[in-house]
Amino acid sequence: MRIAILKERHAGESRVAASAETVRKFISLGAEVAVEKGAGVMAAIPDTDFVDAGAIVGTAAAIVKDADIVLGIQAPDVKLLKGVKKGAMVAALFDPFGAPKLVEAYAKAGLEALSMEFMPRITRAQSMDVLSSQSNLAGYKAVIAAADTYGRAFPMMMTAAGTVQAARCFVMGVGVAGLQAIATARRLGAQVSATDVRSATKEQIESLGAKPVFVEDVAGIEGEGSGGYATEMSEEYQKAQAELVSSHIAKQDIVITTALIPGRAAPRLISDAQIKTMKSGSVIFDLATSQGGNVEGSKPDEIVVKHGVTIMGYANTPAQLPADASALFARNHYNFLSAFWDEETGGPILDEEIGDAVRLTKGGKIVNERLNA
Ligand code: NAI
Repeated sequence: MRIAILKERHAGESRVAASAETVRKFISLGAEVAVEKGAGVMAAIPDTDFVDAGAIVGTAAAIVKDADIVLGIQAPDVKLLKGVKKGAMVAALFDPFGAPKLVEAYAKAGLEALSMEFMPRITRAQSMDVLSSQSNLAGYKAVIAAADTYGRAFPMMMTAAGTVQAARCFVMGVGVAGLQAIATARRLGAQVSATDVRSATKEQIESLGAKPVFVEDVAGIEGEGSGGYATEMSEEYQKAQAELVSSHIAKQDIVITTALIPGRAAPRLISDAQIKTMKSGSVIFDLATSQGGNVEGSKPDEIVVKHGVTIMGYANTPAQLPADASALFARNHYNFLSAFWDEETGGPILDEEIGDAVRLTKGGKIVNERLNA
């Protein structure tokens, strides 16, 4: 069983899908691991670390030759996969709703595409979930980047020259990224408040020592769809939320937005009119810029100043912490494949619940029910 790890080729991608630790672990399962030369350099993993762990290091063409499995962060172009075994598995991020042509190309090439973002939200798949492992780091980085840009301090400081007030930080969307953003802002000494459409997050916000800001007494308040994901909210709810946010946001110094709805553009949470009510010097970090943005006027990888407020967001936030993000992503891959490792065949045999959820293409066809619906 040959597992190949290519160097990432997407613009701005600094992560790598294997670490020395996961190479060692795959080898101890009986696999052979081949890594493209220079694949880990941006994540602070030199080729020598992969070689010491037992991997073969070589050119892209050499390492994919006869591979049974290819692991990636972003799914590689099929052109790079010439030479893999017939029907080889490729596990990576496919952006299945956003990049249908890529999925078609995988089907046409007869490859088995496994979309890591379609990992089901069930307890036993938690350790395989790249959205969680990467969102957690993204939530942390959003606060650090906003704090770095903000021209004031986060904690309250009493000095001989006078008192510096604590920053007020508002987190919108309390999923994995939002929870980490709250924890990070609290650690830095900010006064933190947070909101979400899922009422179950209220307790989580409180348990982190932050103040929940919630729309009350409006129909459809639960906001929770299948698998713990948010649903799109009613018009009535959206109106009530906008009013609540408007009055709260005007008093904030830092706002971190993290709201996503799978398969749809990110919900618009902050309008230009609301930005106008904020204090000059405030900072908004939009974690959803690459899905259309939660904030009017936000642009991926650009710093926009509007009405004296700085609006920022990275196209790929986890890639800003490539060493940790790679280590966790690589472990997600290992936890996924090793959970299904079959001693007899010396490779993974996926079960229905997880296999059918993540599998996009097989035997020349698109086989995922979320794409064929
Ligand atoms: P996400 O990245 O899909 O969305 C981020 C947050 O934005 C969510 O909390 C969502 O409710 C919120 N949101 C959406 N629209 C909004 C709006 N209009 N206004 C305010 N907030 C809005 O969510 P994420 O971080 O992936 O996790 C969501 C839930 O799923 C969490 O409870 C998490 O613990 C759970 N989860 C469970 C897993 C498992 O059991 N294997 C794995 C990953 C997450």
